[in-house]
Amino acid sequence: MSQEETKPVEFHHISVLSREVLTGLQVKAGGLYLDATLGGGGHSRLILDAAADVQLVGIDRDRTALDATRPTLSETVELWQGNFANFEPGDRTFDGIVADLGVSSPQLDVGERGFSFQQDAPLDMRMDQNAELSAAEVINHWREVDLVRIFSEYGEERFSKRIARAIVAARPLHSTLGLAETIRQAVPGKFRYGRIHPATRVFQALRIAVNQELESLDTFLQRAPHWLKLGGRIAIISFHSLEDRRVKNQFRASEQLKIITKKPLTAQPDELAQNRRSRSAKLRVAERIMI
Ligand SMILES: C[S@@+](CC[C@H](N)C(=O)[O-])C[C@H]1O[C@@H](n2cnc3c(N)ncnc32)[C@H](O)[C@@H]1O
Repeated sequence: MSQEETKPVEFHHISVLSREVLTGLQVKAGGLYLDATLGGGGHSRLILDAAADVQLVGIDRDRTALDATRPTLSETVELWQGNFANFEPGDRTFDGIVADLGVSSPQLDVGERGFSFQQDAPLDMRMDQNAELSAAEVINHWREVDLVRIFSEYGEERFSKRIARAIVAARPLHSTLGLAETIRQAVPGKFRYGRIHPATRVFQALRIAVNQELESLDTFLQRAPHWLKLGGRIAIISFHSLEDRRVKNQFRASEQLKIITKKPLTAQPDELAQNRRSRSAKLRVAERIMI
């Protein structure tokens, strides 16, 4: 963990599919749980309150999330900064693991993190502020073919070639608004001012590439079943099809897991009315069956 000081910030993130996660995990008194994506700690606090004497380990690669959330959790909670793909549980095994993928609301809302084109900011997008790769590096130094590939694969962007060509021609680009405007001008006229900003998919693709989100998820999905006790459960919330497909396929392929949710669980109308983010959330749960 880096010793660099960061200032705790207010952390407002509404957890998604909370009821479904709790039902899926079947939290036990005295159990040990792993929250692989602590964020604002919403899921962690629910797990801790769901039964007596619950112990919890929380992971986040974003130091500001850990600093902001630490004071809201009991002192017995152990926190670890890093990528969940690299976590080492030692000789502990868990009664349940939860991962709520992607970014938190504060990461999107704090302008200078550079995740959003709603505010002008440097091209950053690193969830872990100590990571080397930033969005500026990708945008200004990656080859055009690699930009086309990530925009197509991670953003499912139909105009990835035109957008990549326009970005390379406009280099150097330094700010989120500059990039968003370059993308807007690159797409055909009738797509420039639609309901969805034409930069939305490229920003998603960049975020996935900068944080190596899919590679991290693949490694985590391979490793995490081994961290469960027999009968322990793993619950994963994903927000787009690239993630959900990986969770579904890996749960199916794992000899250690029995699938509990044949179809992914999605938000109920009351949650949909309160939290827009829940619209794209999908939860899959599986249980450890073999040692
Ligand atoms: C959607 S938020 C989690 C919100 C949390 N469940 C809550 O209720 O407040 C996702 C969090 O996971 C972290 N994260 C995403 N990918 C990660 C990874 N590979 N390793 C560790 N943390 C990760 C992000 O930094 C972010 O804080």
